[in-house]
Amino acid sequence: MKISLEADICGTRIKNCFLNASGPRDASLAELEEIASSKAGAIVTKTATIDPRDGNPKPRYFENSNGSLNSMGLPNLGYKEYVKMVPLLKKSGKPVICSALGMGEKSAEHFLEIAKAFFSAGADLVELNLSCPNVVGKPQAGYDFETTERIIKTVCAELDSSKLIIKLPPYFDFCHFEQAAGIIKDYKIGSIACINSIGNALIVDSENEQAVISPKGGFGGIGGKFVKPTALANVRKFYELLGKNVCIIGIGGIENGTDAFEHILCGATAVGIGTAFMKEGPACFARLESELKAVMEKKKYSSLDDFRGKLKTFSKEIKGTKDY
Ligand code: DHB
Repeated sequence: MKISLEADICGTRIKNCFLNASGPRDASLAELEEIASSKAGAIVTKTATIDPRDGNPKPRYFENSNGSLNSMGLPNLGYKEYVKMVPLLKKSGKPVICSALGMGEKSAEHFLEIAKAFFSAGADLVELNLSCPNVVGKPQAGYDFETTERIIKTVCAELDSSKLIIKLPPYFDFCHFEQAAGIIKDYKIGSIACINSIGNALIVDSENEQAVISPKGGFGGIGGKFVKPTALANVRKFYELLGKNVCIIGIGGIENGTDAFEHILCGATAVGIGTAFMKEGPACFARLESELKAVMEKKKYSSLDDFRGKLKTFSKEIKGTKDY
């Protein structure tokens, strides 16, 4: 059976639904070229700020078998360097997705300046990252709906909202999903990426009685297995609220083909790989592609459209449910 993992993110065709999530292994040209040579469906750049940043003091990344904890603090070369890389990366034939973040009092204007420059350089889509949890003294914009709207309004006044991806923090209450979805609808945003890492978590090393990373007293964003149920809930809830008009890039806890299948079943158009990509490198994309194809073959699905969004509500007892 011929199985296709093709997807369309607001007019941008990707041959394979697996993308790198903005964050790990995507801050230098060499790393981005490795993604270009892999089976990833597109190349996503590290979130860029106006000025270059060294990020937080090391060690700032930790991983174990349940996932990762990071407090990178946005180390990046500054957006002008990524602007120069866009035409070089486009030569690979893969779509290029650039990630932007404006900080400080002029954050909305900075988001606009960076996004404009990325589109002018030929970026196919631009992600506005409203959810970095790791900059000391800077709250995540995505938890403040006034700030979220101000940024989106400023950017959409000058740029095509259908080509924007809003990267959201994880939400935990239905009223917050509804507020975020309202803004996404009002400004006709093309895509959302959910979730970013769950911010300000703490992993303890009991043997040494210490935190496992150095910045912010050990607090950082978790990813990987730890976050998959929250990620699936965010994908599902936004799919329920936004329907097929908004593309969802599902991110969070995708380590194998079944995890990706679950994200797409909940409504994701494409999926982003963070913790597993950090651990395994670009070879993860070929592995995930063949694993998802194997899941689909078993279920007799030949395209992602065959099952996207079709999660059923509970109907029968399965292993794990308890009569309690
Ligand atoms: C960083 C972490 C994030 O979760 C993010 O969205 C952007 C940047 C970081 O600490 O570098």
